[in-house]
Amino acid sequence: MSDLSGQIAIVTGAAKGIGFAIAKQLGQQGAHVYLFDIDTLNLENAKTLLDEGQISNEIVTINITKESEVQQAIHQIGQTHGKNDILVYNAGIIRDHLLFKMSTDDWNNVMEVHLKGAFLCSKYAQEWMVKNKYGRIINLSSVSALGSRGQANYATAKAGIQGFTKTLAIELGKFNITVNAIAPGFIVTDMTKSVAERIGVSFDELKQAKINDIPVKRAGTPEDIANAASFFASPASSFVS
Ligand code: NAI
Repeated sequence: MSDLSGQIAIVTGAAKGIGFAIAKQLGQQGAHVYLFDIDTLNLENAKTLLDEGQISNEIVTINITKESEVQQAIHQIGQTHGKNDILVYNAGIIRDHLLFKMSTDDWNNVMEVHLKGAFLCSKYAQEWMVKNKYGRIINLSSVSALGSRGQANYATAKAGIQGFTKTLAIELGKFNITVNAIAPGFIVTDMTKSVAERIGVSFDELKQAKINDIPVKRAGTPEDIANAASFFASPASSFVS
């Protein structure tokens, strides 16, 4: 594990699931972690858990699709610390339907949270990273980026995240900022539990079906993804972008 003492990290969608695990791990490595989420109740639970583990953290209730909220929150962090070393763009939603049933709202909401949110957070976070000639941006894509039944909106957004990530890597590399995306497979979180509910199978049945296609023959945990994020957030990943 790298030492992230003195570093400032922002993790979006950090109230639970993968985002919470990432925030916790970066905090355990010494970073001061800002947890961004729209869900105040789960954010408060997250804060209690991190405080119990003596992890230095602050929670921010925010809708990451609203430019004024993102600009203000990231500016405030920059003004307070003079920097912002790590951004993990993890917030996400699903609005799954086969194409013929997918509404324009289902399409737009998924694009807003995954793509507009990633754009806004990176745009305002990079200002401080460029100033300080250091940064780590990590975006959450998905194996669904390559196509996934019932997820035309989500698959498109997650493919978009990959193009966005590579473009930022090209633009920001000269400022000592690396940009990487993680594309997880099936991870046990509320998001995958909601998929089981929607398609009318038990979570265990869904999990077993997914495990059949996973080389290591088990479902992923949020901590598995936090391990990857932790590498991309560390100084040791400086040539990986
Ligand atoms: P989750 O549903 O447990 O957590 C997502 C978090 O994002 C929630 O706390 C939610 O409140 C927050 N959020 C949603 N909209 C927001 C907004 N407008 N502003 C601020 N926060 C907002 O999901 P999970 O499973 O932890 O997923 C995290 C990321 O990983 C997502 O980007 C997801 O697409 C991606 N992913 C998840 C996989 C899985 O199997 N669970 C697989 C591949 C990718």
